[in-house]
Amino acid sequence: MSDKIRLIIDTDPGQDDAAAILMAHGLAKRGLIDFLAITTVAGNVPLARTTENARIICDWAGETGFPVYAGADKPLLRPPLTAEAVHGQTGLGDAVLHAPVCPLQPQHAVPFLIDTLRRAGDNSITLCPIGPLTNIAQMLALAPDTVRAVKNIVLMGGSYFEAGNMTPAAEFNFYCDPHAAQIVLQSGAPVTILPLDVTHKAVITTPRMDALRRLPNANGPRLAALLQSYERYDIQKFGLEGGPLHDPCAVACAVFPELFNGGHCRVDVETQSNLTLGACVVDWRNITGQTPNARWITKVDADRLFEELAESIAILP
Ligand code: BDR
Ligand code: CA
Repeated sequence: MSDKIRLIIDTDPGQDDAAAILMAHGLAKRGLIDFLAITTVAGNVPLARTTENARIICDWAGETGFPVYAGADKPLLRPPLTAEAVHGQTGLGDAVLHAPVCPLQPQHAVPFLIDTLRRAGDNSITLCPIGPLTNIAQMLALAPDTVRAVKNIVLMGGSYFEAGNMTPAAEFNFYCDPHAAQIVLQSGAPVTILPLDVTHKAVITTPRMDALRRLPNANGPRLAALLQSYERYDIQKFGLEGGPLHDPCAVACAVFPELFNGGHCRVDVETQSNLTLGACVVDWRNITGQTPNARWITKVDADRLFEELAESIAILP
């Protein structure tokens, strides 16, 4: 049996999600992962849009038959929340969108995840959630036995040493569905978290953007244009040097863990307080003595990350 990472991305595309999905298709073409499927969730834009966007992105990658499953259309308990101010009305900024060729699978994402993990060997599937955690929480709540098959849940969400990007206390994915985030963290599954603490260190500088734009294929310049419209928000609102590549950090960490560093600690998500809803409490110093439930990533070799991103995009059409 191949010891390649077997990856499923759960996503709400989203412009940085698009970069993460394209990176995963490139990594698969480079022979570095088995990219099994995409499941979609409501988040940056409503579910119908995130699902159509995921299928369009697969077309861009030349993967017109790739399995895409639509999942939750709203958070577990909270009202839906979208981020058109960051990602544009369609979720993919100014990109020209076509009617997708890549089909939508008939099964709902949650039973698909449950069936797939139940059929899989122990510790054999890496889940990479890069949107609100609604689908993954439902899978773990409905079928706790699926934890057996999880090699790692490498997710983008949360913040602790860095201020929130949705409220002063909370990051978007965790704020959107804090209850789902807390379910995932308490599930007993191995979890690696890529919070704003690290993704704000992986910004798209002009030379990095130019490296994508100069690629002699369609996807390099297209992704550069997408990221150019995406970065406006973070530069204007937060004064960052460029757009943070939140979601590609999660895919990259699953495949190239040596590029990242952090610590194992107890992480909980606030689900009660209006003031701090979705905030992470990270026991970085092990003050409580509780057993760690996650690896909290704080450092990245951003140059290497961008080299891997560019190499993965370069192999696409
Ligand atoms: C996260 O929120 C979304 O807008 C991005 O796609 C990313 O997953 C960053 O807070
Ligand atoms: Ca996302």
